[in-house]
Amino acid sequence: EGKVPHVVGVMGASGDLAKKKIYPTLWWLFRDGLLPEDTAFIGYARSKLTVAELRAKCDQYMKVAPGEEAKYEAFWKYNRYVAGSYDTRRDFELLDKAFAEFHKGSSEVGNRVFYLALPPSVFETVTAHIKETCMAPKGWTRIIVEKPFGKDTASSAKLSSHLSSLFREDQLYRIDHYLGKEMVQNLMILRFGNSIFNPLWNHHNIASVLISFKEPFGTEGRGGYFDEFGIVRDVMQNHLLQILCLVAMQKPCSTRADDIRDEKVKVLKSIEPPTLNDVVLGQYVGDPSGSGEAKLGYLDDPTVPAGSSTPTFASAVVHIRNEKWEGVPFILRCGKALNERKAEVRIQFKDVPGDIFGGMAKRNELVVRVQPNEAVYVKMMTKTPGMSFEMEETELDLTYRARYKGVKLPDAYERLIVDVFCGTQMHFVRTDELAEAWRIFTPLLHEIEGKKPTPIPYKFGSRGPTEADDLLAKNNFKYYGTYKWTDPGK
Ligand code: BG6
Repeated sequence: EGKVPHVVGVMGASGDLAKKKIYPTLWWLFRDGLLPEDTAFIGYARSKLTVAELRAKCDQYMKVAPGEEAKYEAFWKYNRYVAGSYDTRRDFELLDKAFAEFHKGSSEVGNRVFYLALPPSVFETVTAHIKETCMAPKGWTRIIVEKPFGKDTASSAKLSSHLSSLFREDQLYRIDHYLGKEMVQNLMILRFGNSIFNPLWNHHNIASVLISFKEPFGTEGRGGYFDEFGIVRDVMQNHLLQILCLVAMQKPCSTRADDIRDEKVKVLKSIEPPTLNDVVLGQYVGDPSGSGEAKLGYLDDPTVPAGSSTPTFASAVVHIRNEKWEGVPFILRCGKALNERKAEVRIQFKDVPGDIFGGMAKRNELVVRVQPNEAVYVKMMTKTPGMSFEMEETELDLTYRARYKGVKLPDAYERLIVDVFCGTQMHFVRTDELAEAWRIFTPLLHEIEGKKPTPIPYKFGSRGPTEADDLLAKNNFKYYGTYKWTDPGK
């Protein structure tokens, strides 16, 4: 007991996110020695639970490997659980006591991380109580916030100003877990750590950019939550827009968090909000010849309101009105219940000017595959090997599985939580950045909610509405259908 310099408070500890994501991540970090020594954990929620009961809820998600049992026991020895209501000051005072108990006798200061895994309805009262009763008296206090960060400009601004009235920006860690992914972080290194790409990185050479996210499963019982938000808020306004920022921003003057975030904000400020005319919306329907879940459409999910027109697929074209990108369409495309799991960025270069090959050359493309199977490759033309003087498509390929055999890439959440301990805000969303992201999508979201356009039905397991391919073609993204990437890692 006592002498614990760092304590993580998991607020909403009995909930879904806590057991599926937060406790497993904390355990993996503990297991791998990535947290400061003697870090302890306190769960807080309304349900009366013992640590053993909490542990039982988490067990199936923790992936404890043979040989790790002793460590796993040790992890739970560092855990406490405090039951309390979300709106009673007295309960938060007891929580504060539990923190103090851990810190007692620590020669170092006692630092506190609060991870807010809470329903939006109690978010404001909990943060107010933390501020009043649970701040670290000697060390630092950092607050990790999960989406939803509001539903549009107005609701998000309300939430942000509430948070800003309680905490300083350097205490706030808004998570967009895409910023914790290996290849998303790599965008900065690829662009600014090489001299081959950066001189080409502008409207003179780039025809269009496609950023896409596909998932092969539907809402899986989360339909009730999803229906209130839709795919634009769930994936496009956050994850895809963050990737867009990292692809489009100018070189920051340093790698300091605020220098990077300043550049991201500048890109966002230059984006014109898309309207319904720039968008293709879809909703999946069951595939009668599919198996299991694939037979069911979005509207067959019992938690989805009957007749809902919430999109589960969206493709949108946005324009960045600045000197670098004028005239280059950025196409954001995301959907659930599609044919595969894939997230990637495609930078498509312009056709070769002054062509001498009778139109045989196809466009170069730089592809950054975020997941699965991380890779960076450049699609290019080469002479068909052998006697002929024909040409064919090939690639310069950096496939991680082949090049970095056996290297383990940490999960996005692991990386981000370590960043919180280190006080690094580079991969977290700043308040003004969030406001700009909402400025871009609020008009479209309100238009969708006002006009309720019927989304285009697409079959579970398909590529999505074909109208989305037309949108690509109209926006200077050429799809040839001839190229096939072969996995060198196999
Ligand atoms: C979440 C969305 O933010 O990201 C989910 O709410 C989505 O709907 C998930 O499935 C995708 O994350 P990942 O890391 O599996 O690509």
